Amino acid sequence: MARKRAAILISGRGSNMAALIEAAKDKNYPAEISLVLSNRPDAGGLLVAQASAIATEVVDHTAFGKDRAGFESALQAVLEKHRIDLICLAGFMRLLTAGFVSQWQGRMINIHPALLPEFKGLDTHKRALDAGAKIHGATVHFVVPEMDSGPIIAQAAVAVHPGDSEEALAARVLKVEHRIYPMALKLVAEGRVQIKKDRCLIDGVPVPQASELVPTDPG
Ligand code: GRF
Repeated sequence: MARKRAAILISGRGSNMAALIEAAKDKNYPAEISLVLSNRPDAGGLLVAQASAIATEVVDHTAFGKDRAGFESALQAVLEKHRIDLICLAGFMRLLTAGFVSQWQGRMINIHPALLPEFKGLDTHKRALDAGAKIHGATVHFVVPEMDSGPIIAQAAVAVHPGDSEEALAARVLKVEHRIYPMALKLVAEGRVQIKKDRCLIDGVPVPQASELVPTDPG
């Protein structure tokens, strides 16, 4: 089967992007990274992608002011130009409108640094520490119009250690992000993920709820 053409949308350093690029170097991986697209010309991830000979594009949101629709039609044009099948949001710091999201329904995924539905939004690690969470983690989910709310494809938990700093916890979570994002894209690209009543089934089996997860602690 032809490999799916995936675009990774970034705004920053792109460590999840790098993990996806690395996984897709395997010829048997079911997706190729056909494009890295940034809304910021200075995103560090662009250089990393170029070093791997991946096509990069910039659609600078500041050029569109408050014209969200204009920004998104520019994004869409670039995605079409590169014949993209699947979008991976990886630290892409722009909210997307319901119109754009619905065009990519079931074909756009995101990684979020928390065990959704806990800690939607920003500053997840600080909020997890402040809340006294014992378990924290990361989630890959389909994108729906409501932020950080779509059907969950993969999650991984890490233990919160006593005395953890925000940075230490972030680093522990990032390691599992780099593991689950390539795994989730693989499942989606292979067509093994079905959405039923807002929940994902993988090969027909419902994805476990966050409360059933056991922390894996890569240190
Ligand atoms: C990650 O923590 C990801 O979960 C969140 O934004 C961060 C991006 O980091 N959505 P990177 O650019 O992939 O290193």
